[in-house]
Amino acid sequence: MTFKLYLAPLRGITDYIYRNTFSRHFNGFDAAVAPFIPTLKAIHTKPSHLKDVLPENNSAMPIVPQIIGNNHENFIPLAAQLSDLGYDTVNWNLGCPFPMVAKKQRGSGLLPYPEKIDRFLEKTVPAIPNRLSIKIRLGRKTPDDLFKLIPIFNRYPLQELIIHPRTGIQMYDGQPDLNAFEKCLSMTHHPIVYNGDITDLQSFQDLAARFEAIHSWMIGRGAIINPFLPAIIKAGQDNFSNQVEIFRGFYQELFEEYQQVFAGPGHLLERMKGFWTYFSQAFADGRKIRKKIHRTLKLQRYLEIVERFFEEDAEWKK
Ligand SMILES: Cc1cc2nc3c(=O)[nH]c(=O)nc-3n(C[C@H](O)[C@H](O)[C@H](O)COP(=O)(O)O)c2cc1C
Repeated sequence: MTFKLYLAPLRGITDYIYRNTFSRHFNGFDAAVAPFIPTLKAIHTKPSHLKDVLPENNSAMPIVPQIIGNNHENFIPLAAQLSDLGYDTVNWNLGCPFPMVAKKQRGSGLLPYPEKIDRFLEKTVPAIPNRLSIKIRLGRKTPDDLFKLIPIFNRYPLQELIIHPRTGIQMYDGQPDLNAFEKCLSMTHHPIVYNGDITDLQSFQDLAARFEAIHSWMIGRGAIINPFLPAIIKAGQDNFSNQVEIFRGFYQELFEEYQQVFAGPGHLLERMKGFWTYFSQAFADGRKIRKKIHRTLKLQRYLEIVERFFEEDAEWKK
């Protein structure tokens, strides 16, 4: 069986630096959806705002740019700009759960308003030069939102629907609602991508056995924690050894790349703490290194801690 694996968009994590560095050390992903770009009132988005999706920064892994917004007048020119950059598909974010975003009726905050979504699609789909894909949760508060939306989506020529089967208010708690996902599958006319909680080969294989009609899968946190995962899933087995050594090489390059783009040590340290929230979970007794790193206030001290960890303690969790 051939299938496609997407790297999920994680804002603050899977930017072009991460994606390029990943591609030099690991494989298994066919493409990535890039973290969201907000629509702006300005008709023309500044190139600096689009740095993450500029083709020259994305030669290693094909990407689909993602836009978050609820106003077709702002969405259309941005989609056109992305078309000029060569992107024949853009993704619309209807999943972001964060209250600051949702209360402005963006991301999952728009899901309780099917008529607004219909109107947006009616205006946008014929007006943009790209195809539109949508990344979506089940609803803001209830899966009923998506059950109402799918018949609307069925009226538009969408490229695909990427479904993370949780509600917005659920954030990342509890389990993905696979029964609700199954119901969506039976209702839709569009290709569906499954996204959520694929953390190891077994969890992927369980989902693949249950949802035989799915040929595209998206992985976020599971692959940030264990970057070998997409290759393991593609191979159907885990043949890796020397994980700590390979991971260390990847981490070292990632650090050096960010060192070049961040002006101050504070920003660099914050970004690294963000990464280690995930990285630490790949190691036996990872909470210890996570805590040590998160308590650190000085970059020099951080470097010593990480160096010592790799030299003495790092053990890849099986
Ligand atoms: C820190 C963080 C940032 C995220 N940023 C985005 C984003 O920019 N766009 C988006 O559609 N989803 C975003 N997501 C959601 C992920 O793409 C994905 O849907 C979610 O993590 C579930 O998949 P997973 O269980 O494989 O991680 C983000 C998630 C996290 C944890």
